[in-house]
Amino acid sequence: MYPDVRPRRLRTTPAMRRLVAETVVRPADLILPLFVREGLDEPRPVPSMPGVVQHTRDSLRKAVTEAAHAGLGGVMLYGIPLRKDEVGSGGTDPDGILNVALRDVAHEVGDATVIMSDLCLDEFTSHGHCGVLAADGTVDNDATLARYAEMAVVQADAGVHLVGPSGMMDGQVGVVREALDEAGHTDVGILAYAAKYASAFFGPFRDAVESSLEGDRRTYQQDPANLHEALREVELDVAEGADLVMVKPALPYLDVVAAVRAAVHVPVAAYQVSGEYAMAEAAFVNGWLDRDRTILETLTSIRRAGAQQILTYWALEAAALLRAAY
Ligand code: PBG
Repeated sequence: MYPDVRPRRLRTTPAMRRLVAETVVRPADLILPLFVREGLDEPRPVPSMPGVVQHTRDSLRKAVTEAAHAGLGGVMLYGIPLRKDEVGSGGTDPDGILNVALRDVAHEVGDATVIMSDLCLDEFTSHGHCGVLAADGTVDNDATLARYAEMAVVQADAGVHLVGPSGMMDGQVGVVREALDEAGHTDVGILAYAAKYASAFFGPFRDAVESSLEGDRRTYQQDPANLHEALREVELDVAEGADLVMVKPALPYLDVVAAVRAAVHVPVAAYQVSGEYAMAEAAFVNGWLDRDRTILETLTSIRRAGAQQILTYWALEAAALLRAAY
């Protein structure tokens, strides 16, 4: 009798499907990115990212406590200073917003979740670039490295567990590792934004951090056309001391996630970025996509491609969905 092979047998009931599911997303795989802004009296919504806010120091503490209670893998903090300048002084000032927020949060949750911080200057510079500029207006790689080294030590002093260098400067992981070690922070790890593309999908994030960038980041972030170049970037970061590597954005770059997973023996993270979030949220308000199913499907797909950790603005919501599903 034809057909004699019937794969549908394994899809007959929810229990059967659960039995044969190859990919599971756990709340502990999820990392929640959070924004904290200097000088706010109350949280301020980010219009292009419905449901996401710029936190006050107080509301940030509460959000991180909630993340820890929800069993999330970690939080990734971004700071938005009141004043920006040419060299991004706020990033290395121990009393700068990101650094005071890290101290707040470390004091509040201790080791209950993993505290991570963006290690980049773009939130702090008046020109919005990820590094300092040379006289001719280009981003000065080596001068930027010195700023990152200093910033890493200040963040580590503030209590961060993992720093996240995201500026795509050559040699950034190496200088950060050396600076941390010299300062005695040998236990502070590095989550390297290793394969980070010059992506249109970062648009809403730039609203969230009130970026003053004009132009683009194509002289330091990667060309979306390139895969092998991502493997070279990842290889270099691992050699320089990256403890985890990240691919960013996630969904349009699942081939990169899979190739990186196959190439290295450190944990591979992927960042479901602001534009991926905004795109789906816009469809949700229009009733064009089912919210819960879409969120879980994107996360499952990123996990299936080979990313273990996923940075996602839906982390709390997804954790609740996952607890209900399993
Ligand atoms: C740089 C940084 C960016 C993002 C994370 N770290 C912006 C950029 O490179 O322009 C984007 C994250 C997102 O879009 O959700 N500090």
